[in-house]
Amino acid sequence: MNLREFESAARELLDPVHYDYVAGGADDEVTVRANEAAFARIALLPRVLRGAASRESGVTLFGHRASLPVVLSPTAFHRLFHKEGEVATARAAARAGVVMITGMASTVAVADVVEAARAAAPGRDPAVWFQLYLQPAPGVTEALVRRATEAGCAALVVTVDSPVLGAHTRNARNGFHDLPDGLACENLRDLLDGEPGHVRQIAMSPTLDWDDLDRLRASTSLPLLLKGVLHPDDARIALDHGVDGLLLSNHGGRQLDTVPATIDLLPEIAAAVAGRVPLLLDGGVRRGTDIVKALALGATAVGIGRPAVWGLAADGENGVTRVLDILRRELDHTLALCGATGIADLTPALVRNATASA
Ligand code: FNR
Repeated sequence: MNLREFESAARELLDPVHYDYVAGGADDEVTVRANEAAFARIALLPRVLRGAASRESGVTLFGHRASLPVVLSPTAFHRLFHKEGEVATARAAARAGVVMITGMASTVAVADVVEAARAAAPGRDPAVWFQLYLQPAPGVTEALVRRATEAGCAALVVTVDSPVLGAHTRNARNGFHDLPDGLACENLRDLLDGEPGHVRQIAMSPTLDWDDLDRLRASTSLPLLLKGVLHPDDARIALDHGVDGLLLSNHGGRQLDTVPATIDLLPEIAAAVAGRVPLLLDGGVRRGTDIVKALALGATAVGIGRPAVWGLAADGENGVTRVLDILRRELDHTLALCGATGIADLTPALVRNATASA
C-alpha cells in the first residue's frame, strides 16, 4: 500500500544482517530518524478551485525527460537483496522512465546495468548515472570514469561526504564487513593488480580536496553532480568549480550523525544555488507529499535510497516498479489535493513550518 510497508516486507525476507545494513545509519541514527521526521513536521497548505483535469509531473534532467521528479539514489550491493541485483533495479527504473544512479559499489558491472536499462525500454533513452567516490590511487578514478562513459552513463555523481566511512554500530555488531562468496564489486574487477572487486578496494580518502574535483572536471564532458554537500558555502564553491548539479544528501544518515535533515537544509541550499543548476535532494522521501514539499522548497527532483532496496528485496524488478508506481500515484494525488496543475506550480507558498529561511 505504501513505501513503509515495503520495509516490513523486506525485513521478513532479508537476512537480518543485510536488513540492518540497509536500515541502519551512523552512531545513534539521529539523522536517519530526523530525515523522515522533518518531512512530517512541514505542513502543506493547499489552494482550491483551480480547475486542472490532469497534472504534469515529468521533469527534464540534463536533456533527459524523466516521467517523474524522482531518481533512484545510489545504493550498494543490490545482489545482496535479490539475485538479479542492479539488473532488476535498472529494468524497473527504465520501464518507469526514471533515472537510476548506479553505484561504484554495485554487484553488477556498470556496462551490464546500462545494457539492462536499454533492453527493458526499447526505443526510449533510459538514463543511468554513475556514482563514484574519488579514489586516491592514481589512475583508478580515471579507469572508473572510462568504464562508466563507455557503458553509456549520462552523468557522473561524485559523493563527497565520505572522507572516512561512517561508523555503523549495527554492522560492527553483526560483523558485516564484506560481501559473501560469489558477489563482488564488479566495477572494480581487474582494476588493481588483477584483483576481483573487493569491498576494501573502495577507498574513502580524507586527503581529497577541490583540486581533485578540478582534475575530474577537466577529464570529462559528462554532467557532473556533487552528492553530499550540506553547507551553503560549499554549494557556492561547488558551482565555482564547474559542477552541473547538486544532490543535497546526508547519505541517509549513514555518514556524520546529527547533521540536519536534508529537507530542513533545502531552503538555504536552494538560495545559494539560485536556480543555476539542478538541485536534487534525498533522505527520508517516503510519500508523494514529501516529493511535493521538496519541490515546493526548491528541489528539481528527489532521490530515494532505502525504499528502492526494500522493493528490490520484496519482489525484484516488480517490487521496484511497485515502489515507483506508488510514488507516481501519491504525487499525482497530492498535486490534485494541493490545487496544482503540475510540479511547475509548486512554490514555498504551499508549505508551512519549514525552516525560517524558507
Ligand atoms: C546508500 N547510499 C549510498 N550513497 C552513495 O553515494 N554511495 C553508495 O554506495 C551508497 N550506498 C548506500 C547503501 C545503502 C544500503 C543505503 C541505504 C544508502 C546513500 C543513498 O545514496 C542515499 O543518499 C540515501 O539512502 C537516501 O536516504 P533514504 O532514501 O534511504 O532515506
